[in-house]
Amino acid sequence: MHREDFPMLKQDIIYLDNGATSLKPQCVIDKVVDYYENYSANAHRGDYDISYKVDLEYENTRDLVKDFIGAKRKEEIVFTSGTTDSMNLIVNGFFSGLLEAGDEIILTKTEHASNIMPWFRVAGETGAVIKYIPFDDNNFVTLDNLKKVVTPKTKVISLAEITNVIGDIRPIKEITKFAHERDIFVVVDGAQSVPHKKTNVSDSDIDFLAFSAHKMLGPTGVGVLYAKYELMQNIEPMNLGGGMNESFDSPDKMVLKDVPTRFEAGTPNIAGVIGFGEAIKYLNKIGMDKISEYEKNLRAYLIEKLVTIPHIDILNLEADSGIVAFNVDGVFSEDVAYYLNKYGICVRAGNHCAKLTKDILGVANSIRVSLYFYNTESEIDNLVELLKDKDKIMKEMF
Ligand code: ALA
Repeated sequence: MHREDFPMLKQDIIYLDNGATSLKPQCVIDKVVDYYENYSANAHRGDYDISYKVDLEYENTRDLVKDFIGAKRKEEIVFTSGTTDSMNLIVNGFFSGLLEAGDEIILTKTEHASNIMPWFRVAGETGAVIKYIPFDDNNFVTLDNLKKVVTPKTKVISLAEITNVIGDIRPIKEITKFAHERDIFVVVDGAQSVPHKKTNVSDSDIDFLAFSAHKMLGPTGVGVLYAKYELMQNIEPMNLGGGMNESFDSPDKMVLKDVPTRFEAGTPNIAGVIGFGEAIKYLNKIGMDKISEYEKNLRAYLIEKLVTIPHIDILNLEADSGIVAFNVDGVFSEDVAYYLNKYGICVRAGNHCAKLTKDILGVANSIRVSLYFYNTESEIDNLVELLKDKDKIMKEMF
């Protein structure tokens, strides 16, 4: 769908690495260029026309994000540099002040590094304990399995709605209902879900959400931290500086601005935020349900073909997102990626920054195809044709 909108697709490539970053449509690129060419002023500081325009455009993106994820107020939306930055702010700005020795943090072993490492550090600093939800036979999270690890000491459950290797869609709403009945916070890493399926934080009732613009057609270097308004008030800003304070006279006399401004110290990624607004408008025009449906069908098409190749081992056969992880028997995943690259096919290979996933899958590395709505069946035919011939892979992989 809509391939003509993406300048990168004019090249002779097949881009199947959308979990790493998405391509950008012309309208997003134009919006960024327009800012730099026509109203390149700072945000929230100037008293002249072009700076007012910057403020309007920048804040308009905040409104668009609010509506896109079903938040109740625009003050619940903070712009960060990406999911990693958002996760670190949630963990270090909120949970580090709340967790005590013996408190339990519940994660899964298939989380991305940014939803594990900040928790490891805060656990080390506070004496809190990390626990992992056991998986079912498909390596999926179920509410029943979550119940096995929750205790009265559990303070927070932090998990991706869709993980970047297994690609399962987690039952976030049910998990949150169960958690809130026990006063447990729920943090969701939405990096792989918000770009691909409808998100509604008011409906799911989650407490925190982190995601990135660049995986959903927007510029790199922009992310979002969503927090419920009342929780947002209790997050400690990690960056102090211009734009986020009302006044400062001495170490004990610093007055901060209200949320969300107090979390956006310094000059933000203005062009990126403005471009992100255009990406959201573009996604809205297509419709998130249509995107999910399209990717679901494309995944089914890919799986149907891959299962017929005897030397391919699919690692997430039953998952329901556009992420398909597999290996070619006896061949190192990065060698396969190198081979595909010779034919202009872009996939990711390796451990995908989810380094505990090996404990679950029994293999450390895999090839990952991650789809988006501009991928086609004919691209998949090309990929499958190249994967079918193992002798050719062995001959051409170096
Ligand atoms: N987290 C991104 C990925 O899975 C970079 O590729």
